[in-house]
Amino acid sequence: DAQVRELVESKLATIPDFPEPGVVFRDLTPVFADGPAFHALSEALTTPFAGRFDHLAGVEARGFLLAGAASVLCGAGVLPVRKAGKLPRAVLREEYDLEYGSAALEVHEGELAPAARVLIVDDVLATGGTALAAARLIERAGWQVAGISVAIELDALGGRARLDDRYDVRSLLQY
Ligand code: PRP
Ligand code: HPA
Repeated sequence: DAQVRELVESKLATIPDFPEPGVVFRDLTPVFADGPAFHALSEALTTPFAGRFDHLAGVEARGFLLAGAASVLCGAGVLPVRKAGKLPRAVLREEYDLEYGSAALEVHEGELAPAARVLIVDDVLATGGTALAAARLIERAGWQVAGISVAIELDALGGRARLDDRYDVRSLLQY
């Protein structure tokens, strides 16, 4: 709602040319550092999806903070979607491209019950590569994507267009 948007926006930092020239970086660390703002944001990420998910998927690293906090508020457990090489048991892996660089994400296969409904949570939706890789992992594992919920959507990078024909994509703030 408007009050939460205002609170989060008032704490958000904007850094030009990070991590490389031409990128305008939206930094949520001042939001994480503010108890009431972090609480309100974590709550706002799941309320539009109430009753439609069983678990939250947090994408390493900043998505872990939001999924963890939201988990305590809404009662759903967390599926950690990790960068490659961190998980100790059998994994599924998806390679993807980033606004700056490329990477791979992994989940433990069999971590959740078959057909579990999983809401993907992250701080920023930019090109959508990360969210799409997370969604593919969830589907390849035999679970369902309940939606994609992010704090900030960077409109110019086109993430929504890659995702919203198949997934319910929501963002608190758009730039
Ligand atoms: C950032 C951000 C999202 C992703 C968005 O994470 O937290 O996960 O990029 O970009 P995309 O929509 O173009 O894929 P990053 O990979 O930088 O990792 P970090 O959270 O570990 O810093
Ligand atoms: N901010 C934070 N994370 C990001 C950004 C950004 O502007 N772009 C891609 N990942």
